[in-house]
Amino acid sequence: MLKEKMENAINDQINKELYSSYLYLSMCAYVQSKGMPGIANWLKIQAQEELTHANKFFDYVHERGGRVVLKAIDAVPVEFGSVVELFEKVLEHEQFVTASINYLADIANEISDHATRSMLLWFIDEQVEEEAGVTQILDQLRMVEGKGQGLFMIDKELATRVFVDATQTA
Ligand code: FEO
Repeated sequence: MLKEKMENAINDQINKELYSSYLYLSMCAYVQSKGMPGIANWLKIQAQEELTHANKFFDYVHERGGRVVLKAIDAVPVEFGSVVELFEKVLEHEQFVTASINYLADIANEISDHATRSMLLWFIDEQVEEEAGVTQILDQLRMVEGKGQGLFMIDKELATRVFVDATQTA
């Protein structure tokens, strides 16, 4: 059975994952309107991934006999500036999520909730990958100053991303 403190913190995390999905979907809509279908594809898949993260926490709470309480999702921004600025915001957001996952791990440690600690290892590893992937894209975008032929090539490359539900293979 989940302790209340852990349950509340995971419920907050479910909200953050759903917010993340909404945020990336908003970014997707923004770049789609700017004529960058490959980057839009990458962001749409990112939004889908966030839903799988929310679901993984959702199922875990029930598995441990807890209760999921869904809260309102905050409104997301709709303007993101240049494509470099947009990816800076993606990285910033992923760093925020990493801090939030680490906070959950701190609580699990504090109350000796070993099962939650074990479940969180997947998310800790996932955040390393998330930040590394976004940093790589951001570096490339900066290299081409977010424009011209270079941007065209990056957009083509990001068009090849396909959705994989990594929570199902964990
Ligand atoms: Fe659910 Fe992108 O972290």
